[in-house]
Parts: sequence; structure tokens; C-alpha cells
Amino acid sequence: MKNDVNIVMDGIRLSVPSETTILEAAGIAGVEIPTLCHHEALPPDGNCRLCMVEVFRPKRRGQLVISCMYPIRGPLQIKTKSDEVIGARRFIIGLLLSRAPKSRTIHALAEEYSVEIDPRFLFDPDECARCDRCVRACETLGLSAIGQAWRGFGKKITPPFMEPPKDCIGCAACADVCPTDYIQCVDEDDTRTIWNRNFTLIRCPICGEAHTTEEALEYLGLEDLDARLCPRCRKREYAAKFKIFVP
Ligand code: FES
Repeated sequence: MKNDVNIVMDGIRLSVPSETTILEAAGIAGVEIPTLCHHEALPPDGNCRLCMVEVFRPKRRGQLVISCMYPIRGPLQIKTKSDEVIGARRFIIGLLLSRAPKSRTIHALAEEYSVEIDPRFLFDPDECARCDRCVRACETLGLSAIGQAWRGFGKKITPPFMEPPKDCIGCAACADVCPTDYIQCVDEDDTRTIWNRNFTLIRCPICGEAHTTEEALEYLGLEDLDARLCPRCRKREYAAKFKIFVP
């Protein structure tokens, strides 16, 4: 059983189970910490550093840490908006802005923190923040249709050899978790196009909505009729079967 640990976050006292991350504790305390690469359904990665906060352990000086990766194991005082935190956050937002100047998400952050683009860091800019959420989503499904190529500022997310990925099942999980809308997934008529590959969409036999691909169902081993229903109709069908009220 995990022991509870007492912490103080931005003046709010709370007790959380040991190993809770600072970001999770912030959620409990109702304190907002900006994030980009973090996604609840994916393993944490700590690569955007936007969620930086300052921690003070007894008899130690303040230290900047990545809140989505930092497990609380003892009493801590945490500041999420100290001058040091805001300074570090502004620097990171500046880099992200140079990296992905076309992203609305990052522009909104830059506006909130009054950060302007620094032309010294502009390098092959696009809308990708290189947060790797898409790669982790693909890996979580047991696939490796996309990955990182090159390093540092030259880093890109791409299918192997920049060709339409053979491993891709067209599930669009990568596009769904992308925080900057960089990954283009276009559904037109009965065709989904993603990573320069076309997939045939499956329509829900009840409402006709195109919602997944044949390859995705096959990969996930979902071959029964229920799997062909869109999530909304499936919910309604189950509700009717088990007499559950669905608003
Ligand atoms: S959200 Fe924590 S490092 Fe990206």
C-alpha cells in the first residue's frame, strides 16, 4: 500500500499517495500547469519541458523539475508560477515557437506568456512540435509505422524511409493525439488518407458514419458485427441490450 505524502502546492496543502507525479497532484489541487507532450493515455516522455515547476525539499534550494515525470516521494513545497518557472517556460515556448511557428496551440501559449519569435532559432519550421505523442500512440498499439529521424533541430517524425508506412493500419491515433494538428488525416467519401497511404473506411451499419478502417479492425482482431458499429451506435445498442439509460 502506498503511503500518503504531504505537499504544499502554490500555498495549497494536500496529501497524495507516494509516487503521484507533481502533474497529477496539480490536477487534484486544481492547479493548472501547461503541458504539450503529456497525454493521459500514453506513457510519459518528458520531452517538451513545458510542465516545468520548482520544488523545494527540506533544507535544499529550489530546483526546476519536469512535473509530468516527477514522482512525489516525500514532503515537498512546489511552486508552479515562480519567477524561475515562468522564465524557463518562456524560454521553452520561444524554442517551440521557432520550431512550429504555424501551430495555433503554440501561438496561443506564446501570446499567453508574451513570447515573440526569435529568428535566430528558425530552422526548417513547420507545425510539428516534436513532442513524440504520435510515436508513443503508435508504439502503445504495438506498431511502429512512424518514428523519429535525425536529431536535434533536424529531428522529424516520419514513416521509415519517408515512404507510405507498411505497418500503418489507418487508425489515426497519431493524428488524434497530435497537439498541433500537424498530422494530416483526410477522410473523403470512403477513403482515409494518412501518411500518404489510402485506406478504405468502414461505415457504421446503423447510422452510416465512416469511423474506422478494415486494417484497424483486422489488426485489433475485431471481426464481429459490433466492431463495425460506430462508438455512438455501439453505446446505444449496449444500452438497449442491458436496459441502461443513455441521455
Ligand atoms: S508535458 Fe511534461 S515534459 Fe512535456
